[in-house]
Amino acid sequence: MQFFLDTANIEEIKKYASWGVVDGITTNPSLIAKEGVSLEKRIKEIAEVVDGPISAEVMAVDFKDMVEEGRRNASWHKNVYVKLPMTPDGLRACKILTKEGININVTLVFSLPQAVMAAKAGATLVSPFVGRLDDVSQDGMQLIEDIRIAFDNYAYKTKILAASIRHPLHVVQAMKIGADIATMPAKVFDQLVKHPLTDKGIEIFLADFEKVKNLQ
Ligand code: G3P
Repeated sequence: MQFFLDTANIEEIKKYASWGVVDGITTNPSLIAKEGVSLEKRIKEIAEVVDGPISAEVMAVDFKDMVEEGRRNASWHKNVYVKLPMTPDGLRACKILTKEGININVTLVFSLPQAVMAAKAGATLVSPFVGRLDDVSQDGMQLIEDIRIAFDNYAYKTKILAASIRHPLHVVQAMKIGADIATMPAKVFDQLVKHPLTDKGIEIFLADFEKVKNLQ
């Protein structure tokens, strides 16, 4: 499974990229707004650090502007994946931009039919939002499973990017289901690595090493 970092914070990106475990980056307008930087500037900075897909969302809501903005975003770097919202205009733009060889990530997906529509429009990635479904008492992970089954049944090549991941168990469940990618905030990267028994084990080994380090 590929692990993407869901952030526009360049320091976070540098930190986790140095671990050798970041396969790509997803950004969204809210994450960019938090950074107080232009999308173009930040995407180009990210591309210097991570050699993998970098999602850059369009702000436009109508088809014509989406296509224009999508082409512009894609021109910033070869690794840019244009993020389009799951709307009729988004689907139309997806079809056009895909034909031009631009990778598309269809975002804000909350149902199986939406995921299938994105796949039919040629999306490279589809982003179902697990945590936001959980927030409204719907089973976000069930949606990942349903999409996996449908994509396998009909051999859609579109990859499932499990988004709005909130904790390590989401990642574990997404892996078992066979989601292609999970995008997660920095906090979840930390949680995936941490285990109290690892910390305890290091503590014990260090204490024992202290006892014998001066012995010949
Ligand atoms: O980038 C899309 C998604 O991962 C957002 O997550 O936590 O804002 O629902 P969240």
